[in-house]
Amino acid sequence: MQPIAAPLLQWFDANKRLLPFRQEPSAYHIWVSEIMLQQTRVAAAIPYYERFIAALPDPAALAACEPDALRKLWQGLGYYNRVNNMQKAARIVCEQYGGDLPADYDALRSLPGIGDYTAGAVASIAFGIPVPAVDGNVLRVFARLYNDDADVMAPATKKAFTVRVLDQMPKATPGPYNEALMELGALVCIPGTPHCEECPLADLCRGYAAGRADQLPVKPAP
Ligand code: ADE
Repeated sequence: MQPIAAPLLQWFDANKRLLPFRQEPSAYHIWVSEIMLQQTRVAAAIPYYERFIAALPDPAALAACEPDALRKLWQGLGYYNRVNNMQKAARIVCEQYGGDLPADYDALRSLPGIGDYTAGAVASIAFGIPVPAVDGNVLRVFARLYNDDADVMAPATKKAFTVRVLDQMPKATPGPYNEALMELGALVCIPGTPHCEECPLADLCRGYAAGRADQLPVKPAP
């Protein structure tokens, strides 16, 4: 596979959405946004995000928030264990890291509610650490790019795709690269029928060349 970073980043620069968490991409902002976006589409999450950050502007405020107030801020998003874990993590951040999220992948990964994806997103986008952040969007983009029929729900596939994501990563700009892959998956390389005519990677895409991008990724029968 030829390098994808240059056309991808050029496309991202010209086409990225102006999202509130992109205006001031602190680790706290990225963290809150990524937890919300795991369960909610971007457009629907924005008002929740803005309300949450206005009420709780930093980890110290989140750590100290009363349970009722916290529940109200999350009402409508569901999965309350996610915000409860965020508060637990915020308390650890205040006790162990002086109130700022640590600029270290393993330290982030060890916090409650922060898995591989969220740790990778915060580390790369907020801190410029060259680690992957592989969500469903990125798995779909890579399944098509490599014309790969592997079951994207299988942990072994995710592992193998993560190696490719990292191989392609420009180590000086991991945050824009990771975000560009997510954005491409959200806007162009969408589920179902992708917009290949608009895709900056169409010339490199093996799924497109084979005329079967719309049949990828493969998921197991339910
Ligand atoms: N979906 C989840 N996180 C995202 C991000 N940072 N940018 C675009 N789409 C996303």
